[in-house]
Amino acid sequence: MDADAKIRARLEAEILPDLLRPVGQARGLPGWAYAHPDVWALERRTVFARGWLGVAFESDLPRPGDCAPVDYAGHRLLLARQADGTIRAFHNLCPHREMPLLDAPRSECRTIACPWHAWTFGLDGALVATPNIGGVNRHADPDAQPGGLVPLGCGTWLGVVFVDISGQSGKLEDWLAPMRARLAAFDLSLTVEAPGEAVDHVYPANWKQVIEGAVEDYHIPWVHRQVGPQGRYEAVLGERFVGVSSWRDMQTAQRRLPPGPDGAEPEPLPVFPHMPDSGEFEASLILTLLPSPVVAAQIGHVAVSLYAPLDPARTLVRRRFRFLGEAASSARHAAARRRVRDSWQTVTDQDAWVHEAIQQSLPAREAAGFRARFSPFWEGAVHHFQALVAARMLGRDAA
Ligand code: FES
Ligand SMILES: [Fe+2]
Repeated sequence: MDADAKIRARLEAEILPDLLRPVGQARGLPGWAYAHPDVWALERRTVFARGWLGVAFESDLPRPGDCAPVDYAGHRLLLARQADGTIRAFHNLCPHREMPLLDAPRSECRTIACPWHAWTFGLDGALVATPNIGGVNRHADPDAQPGGLVPLGCGTWLGVVFVDISGQSGKLEDWLAPMRARLAAFDLSLTVEAPGEAVDHVYPANWKQVIEGAVEDYHIPWVHRQVGPQGRYEAVLGERFVGVSSWRDMQTAQRRLPPGPDGAEPEPLPVFPHMPDSGEFEASLILTLLPSPVVAAQIGHVAVSLYAPLDPARTLVRRRFRFLGEAASSARHAAARRRVRDSWQTVTDQDAWVHEAIQQSLPAREAAGFRARFSPFWEGAVHHFQALVAARMLGRDAA
């Protein structure tokens, strides 16, 4: 039995019967699912190879001619902004003998030359030169069959660059449609990414652990004490996304941000137009498209986070912030934008020690045979997320 088949057999026999019970009686994924190299290898062939993956921000390549390498769960990708403003994606591997083509972002590229034998490609992937392929100063050879870069599926939404590595995931808009429908009350088309505001962090933890921390509010009163009172709350369970929804009135929602850097109250940010002045409404909707990005729609901003697994035990989180219209760039909202960014930085830092402690305890958890149990009220999305990951590893996802 090969390694994939062994992991799948263990999932079927040891894990699924308990995992797929109703949330209050279910038992979670075991420690080995967060650390075993064969699980990581299987995830790379399933979770991170099928479907549309959010791998970069459009703002990473703001101008035509910008190119960037992206490493995502071991996939080496190359993104290139074309003259018409669209972005194309390729494997960051030369079709000659697989040398990585780019090792750092570059601007004003008209072509990309491989550093090994100088095969040269247009930004559309077409092969434009093969210097010396037929001998010194002979740049063609009738017996050789050089080729260009093969484009991967690539598209954008909400400032995120999505890539379809498998080429079998259909249209990006169809893939995103269920999540966009759930977010429809928030008119995200009004939002613009704020330049220069970012929270980037590498958690020393498995990517699943990091996402599980993002899809429950249970820990907030203990780990994020500064984030005010909680209101009506429910898990959101999709086929391709999971998340949490929280209802608050406007006053309570506004109070969740700390004072500005100098203790003064900054000019308030504009809020989404559908939000009422009085009464409770859905003031926070945080959805994770499995496995990336996480979209956190709040009253006056949207935090968009890419979750990029670097290896089984490290996860890079990159956050950017979107605000309504001119509030994304106006000087008078600068303090309010900084306050939003700082509040996310604080939450990000506060989560770090939890993720690290959980990761470090995996061997003990494995030895003790522990399996997580869940609060039905708070952790329906964590449970659902684990079931979705298991289904993808088994090739049984509805997607
Ligand atoms: S490996 Fe790229 S040109 Fe040889
Ligand atoms: Fe947290």
